[in-house]
Amino acid sequence: MLNINQIRSFKNRKKIVMLTAFDYPTAMLLEQAGCDIILVGDSLGTVFNGYKSTLPVKLDDLIYHAKAVRRGIKDTFLVVDMPFMSYQASIRDAKTNAGRIMKETGANAVKLEGGDEASEQIKAIVDMGVPVMGHIGLQPQSVNKYGGYALQGVSEEDKERLVKSAVAIEQEGAFSIVVEKTKSETTKEITKSVSIPVIGIGAGPHCDGQVLVTYDMLGIFQDFKPKFVKQYDNLAKRIQKAVKSYASDVREKKFPGQKHSF
Ligand code: KIV
Repeated sequence: MLNINQIRSFKNRKKIVMLTAFDYPTAMLLEQAGCDIILVGDSLGTVFNGYKSTLPVKLDDLIYHAKAVRRGIKDTFLVVDMPFMSYQASIRDAKTNAGRIMKETGANAVKLEGGDEASEQIKAIVDMGVPVMGHIGLQPQSVNKYGGYALQGVSEEDKERLVKSAVAIEQEGAFSIVVEKTKSETTKEITKSVSIPVIGIGAGPHCDGQVLVTYDMLGIFQDFKPKFVKQYDNLAKRIQKAVKSYASDVREKKFPGQKHSF
């Protein structure tokens, strides 16, 4: 099983491969295919539950899915997201809820959105012995504050803000940082400015690793496709084809045949 020291040591040495999973069989497949880190992300709100944003996702939802994922993997490092309002209101909430994730799911670390504004929470969680992955750039839980899902780190001022945030997160003890939907040059500067691995999603090639939402990269989720997603398959089409074959077999009385009967 990978640990945070090995993940830290990947910096400048080996690209980190991270994907999301919300269920037992997907987690098993990702591990069999050699994924380094599996994230039970709050993107499950949109791509799994069909909500318009990640805001409605509850801590209990993430715990439920993370337990299923944990049962599907042995060696892969498991990170679980802290959802909206599970850590923002108080340090006490942050500690209690990070503790619940670790105790109830068997996760190896938690992830939370926020730059310097989340420093106190990051420090408190790390101090109680729980590894934290930071998350800066686009922060989907703050969609209402930003008025949408715009590209981050475009102006010189915003670039400086993000670099400062990344440095603060490292100082508070985070072992790695996700940078989402951020200009490549800004991510390059962030990656150079910290000694912990930076894992990008829509943040260009100058990172220590990449993460994608599995339902996006496999072409299962059809509502929208962000520009930064490379689709490695079109499972939506393949699933429809398989279901149509099944439907026609049932209607034409070809299934079940002898082979599938007792
Ligand atoms: O929730 C999620 O899946 C994430 C990734 C986009 C990094 O935070």
